[in-house]
Amino acid sequence: MEQFGTEQYRIVHGDALQALENVEDNSVDLIFADPPYNIGKNFAGCIDRWDTDELYLEWCYKWLSLCIRKLKRNGSFYVMTSTQFMPYFDLFLRDKINIMSRIAWYYDSSGVQARNYFGSMYEPILFCVKDKDHYTFNAEDIMVEAKTGAKRKLIDYRKNPPQPYNTKKVPGNVWEFPRVRYRMDEYENHPTQKPIALLDRIIRASSNEGDLVLDPFSGSFTTAYVAKQLGRKCIGIELQDEYIKIGLRRLGLASEYKGETLHRTEKSYHHEEPAEQLCINF
Ligand SMILES: C[S@@+](CC[C@H](N)C(=O)[O-])C[C@H]1O[C@@H](n2cnc3c(N)ncnc32)[C@H](O)[C@@H]1O
Repeated sequence: MEQFGTEQYRIVHGDALQALENVEDNSVDLIFADPPYNIGKNFAGCIDRWDTDELYLEWCYKWLSLCIRKLKRNGSFYVMTSTQFMPYFDLFLRDKINIMSRIAWYYDSSGVQARNYFGSMYEPILFCVKDKDHYTFNAEDIMVEAKTGAKRKLIDYRKNPPQPYNTKKVPGNVWEFPRVRYRMDEYENHPTQKPIALLDRIIRASSNEGDLVLDPFSGSFTTAYVAKQLGRKCIGIELQDEYIKIGLRRLGLASEYKGETLHRTEKSYHHEEPAEQLCINF
């Protein structure tokens, strides 16, 4: 296992289970975990598919337990997986930690569409806290427009005296953010890169400046990138060399890796978006 960066911004190149074991217990303010979903994605040549669902879940239960152990008493944990496995995560976690919200990250899709069933347009996220009476939630930092109040200028006559409806609110549990597409500025060469906007909301809501944010499956290092932008410390763990290079560059920690100069992959104007995969996440 190799480590890069500084005390503030750390990248660990290695297996999540092993790397998590090396993190001090009760030391992390916020963990965002976006593991392989066991749906056959290709992560730099490593296919995300376990021999059986049971083996996948057995592995997940190990790192889920470790994440809980590493969280501070007032820490928060956000975890994603495919829609078909999230019910198992939910059942496993609910008597070990407090599940505060079951979030649907919704996106529109105009690529190849399912024709014989209802295609998946969302990914589930659990928001959990260790202590439901003491946890960080910066509601003021993540307010969104309350459409009824802001656009229709309605008056709430139940109040005495009647008052205009609020123009801002804390987002509900359906979050609409576009997926990262090839032509977007933030695009990196990773098959399941999460949008900056998604991590921005999570990190602003559930941590404060100077807090430690950890991502055990960093991929394109969106979590660490946003954490740094927002003045948080971060630990990003990732198994694949290819993605470590993205992390080192995105976090500004190195300009070369094993003699290779790190730069963004040149985008070709004629690039075709990969066809969206059918039947994998339903
Ligand atoms: C769903 S992706 C994470 C995407 C990331 N959230 C982003 O925004 O780019 C899962 C990542 O976990 C990595 N991975 C798979 N098995 C791992 C393991 N045992 N330890 C650490 N990382 C692993 C994969 O290489 C992949 O990049």
